[in-house]
Amino acid sequence: MNIKIAVLPGDGIGPEVVAQARKCLQAVEETFNHHFEYREAAVGAIAIDKKGTPLPDSTLKLCQEADAVLFGAIGDPKYDNDPEAKVRPEQGLLKLRKELGLYANIRPVKVFPTLINNSPLKRKIISGTDFVIYRELTGGIYFGEKKINEAGTVASDLCEYSEKEISRIAHLAFKAAKSRRKKLTLVDKANVLESSRLWRKVVARIAESYPEVSLDFLFVDNAAMQIILNPSQFDVILTENMFGDIISDEGSVIGGSIGLLPSASVGDENALFEPIHGSYPQARGKDIANPIASILSAAMLLEHFGLFEEAVAMRKAVDKSLEKGVVTPDLNPKSRYGTSYVGDFIAHNIVDSEDSFRMNDENIDLGKSTII
Ligand code: IPM
Ligand code: MN
Repeated sequence: MNIKIAVLPGDGIGPEVVAQARKCLQAVEETFNHHFEYREAAVGAIAIDKKGTPLPDSTLKLCQEADAVLFGAIGDPKYDNDPEAKVRPEQGLLKLRKELGLYANIRPVKVFPTLINNSPLKRKIISGTDFVIYRELTGGIYFGEKKINEAGTVASDLCEYSEKEISRIAHLAFKAAKSRRKKLTLVDKANVLESSRLWRKVVARIAESYPEVSLDFLFVDNAAMQIILNPSQFDVILTENMFGDIISDEGSVIGGSIGLLPSASVGDENALFEPIHGSYPQARGKDIANPIASILSAAMLLEHFGLFEEAVAMRKAVDKSLEKGVVTPDLNPKSRYGTSYVGDFIAHNIVDSEDSFRMNDENIDLGKSTII
């Protein structure tokens, strides 16, 4: 299969983790005889520095012409600490999501059995966790009208949703639930927000077309608590943009590192794949960032194009790195493996799951590597 991939490494650790995902995609090309074409473009703070805008037209065009986008991360502290900044890196990602019509952000949350002790939560609470968040991505408070009065003393952000915006993602979430454990939880704040009441109404109506899926509702404050108290109760969580942003970061704690969670953002015509973590500027260039979220995002890209066997090979190679302890320091503070080494290990294990990247187990324990 030929796939044209727009690669947008972005800021902070973005370039480092995307480079590892790319190695793994190249390993898939080699092993399964595919041809992927990569075209790179600037986005975020780096694009502001180079071209004065976080999403240059040339970058948008490249993404529109590609079959898929592989995205790194976005954000820079120099903008976070400047409330007066008119141009911000995040605007690049938001505009890209809007322009590409990526209305559904899919964020799976799973516990890797090998990492069960990495979680700050107790084993008995987290074991069996396997849910997926369907986060609406192009509406709500992120995109509603923003106002600030002249004196700069009163500001507002409008949270607006239409029936159409709710129903298109709801259908995707119900279809996902149908092929999983057949449970869908709508997370909202319908006791307070009019927009949430519209979500309930529309979703309850759509539920009638999916009789095999059981639907329940949870207020977002309660959901935040339940995700930590009893995460295995969830199968598919459907929610609006900002609630989804918040609870997906919360969900990442369950698995022990935010560096593990991938995501797919899809629309009717385009698809983008990115880790849920941010640009982690403190780690930039230090070769310590965990590349797994980015690599698993590439696996979601493969699945999006129906390359299931290839995605399984990638996931297996990731599992192997976890089993063998070939991990970055976020998963094992004593580990001396870097981002790039972990990426090489995973990529080599895709090419040959048996022995092309054989390592001396003793040295693995010592945090040293010997590539045979
Ligand atoms: C995410 C990020 C973004 C968001 C930021 C970088 C704009 O936190 O993808 O979760 O809030 O959607
Ligand atoms: Mn976020």
